[in-house]
Amino acid sequence: MPQHLDTAEAVRRRVAPGIAQKHKSKFGQFLTPSSVARFMASLFPTSAARTCRLLDAGAGVGALSCAFLDRWAAGGFEFESVEATAYEIDDDLRSHLAQHLAGYQNLTPRIIEGDYIELTTADDLFSKKQTSGYTHAILNPPYKKINSDSPHRLALRRVGIETVNLYSAFVALAVAQAAPGGQIVAIIPRSFCNGPYYKPFRDYIFKHAAIHHMHLFNSRSKAFKDDSVLQENIIIRLERDGQQGDVTVSTSTDDTFADLVTHTHPFDRIVFPYDAERFIHVPTSPEKTVIELSPAICCTLSDLGLKVSTGPVVDFRLKEHLRDMPEEGTVPLLYPGHFSSSAATWPIEGMKKPNAIKRNADTEKWLYPNGFYCVVRRFSSKEEKRRIVASVVEPGIFEGMPVLGFENHLNLFHENRHGLPEALARGLAVYLNTTAVDENFRRFNGHTQVNATDLKLMKYPSRKNLIRLGEWAMRQPSPTQHQIDAKIEAMSA
Ligand SMILES: C[S@@+](CC[C@H](N)C(=O)[O-])C[C@H]1O[C@@H](n2cnc3c(N)ncnc32)[C@H](O)[C@@H]1O
Repeated sequence: MPQHLDTAEAVRRRVAPGIAQKHKSKFGQFLTPSSVARFMASLFPTSAARTCRLLDAGAGVGALSCAFLDRWAAGGFEFESVEATAYEIDDDLRSHLAQHLAGYQNLTPRIIEGDYIELTTADDLFSKKQTSGYTHAILNPPYKKINSDSPHRLALRRVGIETVNLYSAFVALAVAQAAPGGQIVAIIPRSFCNGPYYKPFRDYIFKHAAIHHMHLFNSRSKAFKDDSVLQENIIIRLERDGQQGDVTVSTSTDDTFADLVTHTHPFDRIVFPYDAERFIHVPTSPEKTVIELSPAICCTLSDLGLKVSTGPVVDFRLKEHLRDMPEEGTVPLLYPGHFSSSAATWPIEGMKKPNAIKRNADTEKWLYPNGFYCVVRRFSSKEEKRRIVASVVEPGIFEGMPVLGFENHLNLFHENRHGLPEALARGLAVYLNTTAVDENFRRFNGHTQVNATDLKLMKYPSRKNLIRLGEWAMRQPSPTQHQIDAKIEAMSA
């Protein structure tokens, strides 16, 4: 019985370290370790079909096809014959690929030289009957940004695919080329789950396929540890034109899959029914979070009459108007560095960032009236304990300053571009600083980045309850995490 995955793995170990970093980035080359390839192949359901048309786009040295074919050769599929189509752009890898796919019985390999996107977008994918489409696709596509006016972007647009990265383009094309009921298993970065730029890709997937399985590695970097990829990766299984039902979510710490845990979730926990952005959540435990369970936490931001925006001052675009310290004609410019957990400090002498911005015709439109605001920093480091860190802007610190600048690394909650009532700003900050909110955010979001869209989609207590929380915070100037958490639990009881 051929076990070509072992050969492909040996070649990967030998070849991958010798590929120059520049070449790797140019082609998005991160070859899949055999344990991950085998796991991916195991995710395909068994099938009674006699023939299989397999696609491996961006096939590298063929680890994924080999994992699939090894399973078949070991009796894991009933097919009598397989036609395996593998696209690979890199001449050096293609020669290994050809060797690895030779030698399976009843297999017809089709190794296609060239650019998968260019070659497949030449036809209108949906106008043709898909009866001869691929029954299976197994992919670890290249990861690379697609620029907005690049030939790839335009070619994809011609076949109705609007997307920003090669990986999502490959998955969308594989879905397009699949036969009805075709199964697609892909390992890709998690960024498509909630980036606003990936909304058209998500819409495309939901329109043409069902999501049946998602696997998450609990530790970043563990799926491709030999290649030091730091992206958070996810393995998904899609079914072309499939009926969307419950979704299986599995997790493991790393690519040994030693502690594999599997749960099934209804689809409305994966994509929330009210969510126009259609974020894909990956709940790692069947228990609902306090936030999901609490009937007291059910308001959207618009129910509260509030908006959240990214700080509009992009410092490198307004460089000439920035000043290290306040001077005549300037107003405060606020960065995350001005906020600590307890209070805001401004100005900070010797800070690496400017403290002030000139108020003039060029900057006026980016400034907000002085007032109470709740701000949330957009970036936290991976090591930082919390993802969501909220602070209150107090107008008293900026006495005599009619307007304030908020820099782009902050999100700010406002009421139609104006400040909030003090108690509401404080209540929001207390709520956002609870452990429950942080846990809820982490469970559904792999980013260390907190975008305004993430905050827009969260559920909040009512305005009345937030004001009550704020009033409590005003009587309790430095509440402990324990006290803050107890307040939310009491509200939810
Ligand atoms: C992330 S690697 C994965 C390789 C292989 N699937 C695996 O799992 O080991 C992506 C592969 O796609 C190839 N590639 C990059 N751009 C391509 C394109 N436009 N068309 C076809 N292959 C491409 C790269 O050379 C690389 O081998």
